[in-house]
Amino acid sequence: MSVPQPSRGQWSSQLGFILAAAGSAVGLGNIWRFPYMAGKNGGGAFILVYLLCVIGLGLPVMLVEISLGRATQKNAVGAIEAVAPGSRWKALGYLAMLTGLGILSYYSVIAGRVLACCESYVVSGFSPTADLASAGLGSDVVYFFVFLALTVFVVAGGVQRGIERWAKVLMPMLLLIMAAIIVRGLMLPGAGAGVRWLLEVDFSKIHLDTILDAMAQAFFSLSLGMGAMLTYGSYLSKRQNILTSGAWVVTFDTAIAILAGFMIFPAVFAFGHDPAAGPALIFGVLPEVFRAMFGGGVVGAVFFFLICVAALTSTVSLLEVITAYFVDERGWSRRRAVLAIGAVTFLVGLPSALDFAGIAPWNRIAFLGQTGFLSIMDFIWGNLSLAVGSLLLCLFVAWVWGIRNASDEIASTSPAFRKIAPVWQFTVTWVAPAAILAILLTLVL
Ligand code: PFF
Repeated sequence: MSVPQPSRGQWSSQLGFILAAAGSAVGLGNIWRFPYMAGKNGGGAFILVYLLCVIGLGLPVMLVEISLGRATQKNAVGAIEAVAPGSRWKALGYLAMLTGLGILSYYSVIAGRVLACCESYVVSGFSPTADLASAGLGSDVVYFFVFLALTVFVVAGGVQRGIERWAKVLMPMLLLIMAAIIVRGLMLPGAGAGVRWLLEVDFSKIHLDTILDAMAQAFFSLSLGMGAMLTYGSYLSKRQNILTSGAWVVTFDTAIAILAGFMIFPAVFAFGHDPAAGPALIFGVLPEVFRAMFGGGVVGAVFFFLICVAALTSTVSLLEVITAYFVDERGWSRRRAVLAIGAVTFLVGLPSALDFAGIAPWNRIAFLGQTGFLSIMDFIWGNLSLAVGSLLLCLFVAWVWGIRNASDEIASTSPAFRKIAPVWQFTVTWVAPAAILAILLTLVL
């Protein structure tokens, strides 16, 4: 395999990689999408299927992406080209980039709303009166633009510099503040119904689309299926441990998602909200919890600020996947790449922003069983495309690169991996592709 070029950035330590990868994984997927999906799919049953998908599919695919990235030290397209020069598999690299752009376009809209919430807590002297679940005319477009600009700004400076430092302080802070919100939420009268709803597994609620939602949510939350972990893995040095890094990221991300469930649903039930409210769920519920909390205005401001940062470390990884291609393969400057991609993303995201603001005629359109432009985008890119991407990545690594080469890459710095390697190889070669394919096929048939 090629020797890492000194001109390419590298994480300064194994912790640096874990923080950056956890930064990519932890984001709106945990705080906004997980509750929205769990709410839509009936609670405990969804969470059980989700956990099974994280362990059975998420962790294995995580190792697939990191090992391919580190072995080739290249971006998504370059990595495939390095393993299978001139083959059609290159299309998988382009699909990864397209998916990144698709997700970035509506993800930044939601992140913009989080930014707007944070601002409205601060400017109102910590007691906002506005309805945060339905932002005012046009403001969603403005905040969407601002958030995207922030992402462009960070990626222009290079991923390694900022993120490692920020994540070290802000992640523990996020955990602390979530713990405080959970405690307050659990003390609300009627909160018990939410806890029961989270823990009770009603098997009659598990349908095919529950399983697709849960599987895709696992990929989405772990940033898998579109080359983000591949690209981050490519900045990993040949001394660092892929297995433990990957396992840490999966554990941390899953813990935050479950905590988010316990943060939202007791309050949803206590305040009589509809768990299946969809993408606006958390924006309706959380302000009520903050209002009930001592010093809730400040807690709200800090919380929304931290979620903004968590979202930013995720959008940065989405943009980085596309940027790395134009910089490495096309010889563009970083600046030029991020500005061009940022502009295109803004145009693609506009309809989502107008939909989320509730001022577009297309917030009623229905397609593939979803209603509203943003939900449809989320279904296409966040569900279908990540599932297809993960499936193809498994097939590529198992059958084209060779599952043994992948295993050797992981085992080279993690001798303990040899013991579980057979299980992982079998999963990546057979189980994961068959499971993902079966779930996707039953959906269209
Ligand atoms: N994992 C991020 C989240 O949970 O918010 C979203 C995401 C980032 C998905 C990067 C995919 C990705 F490549």
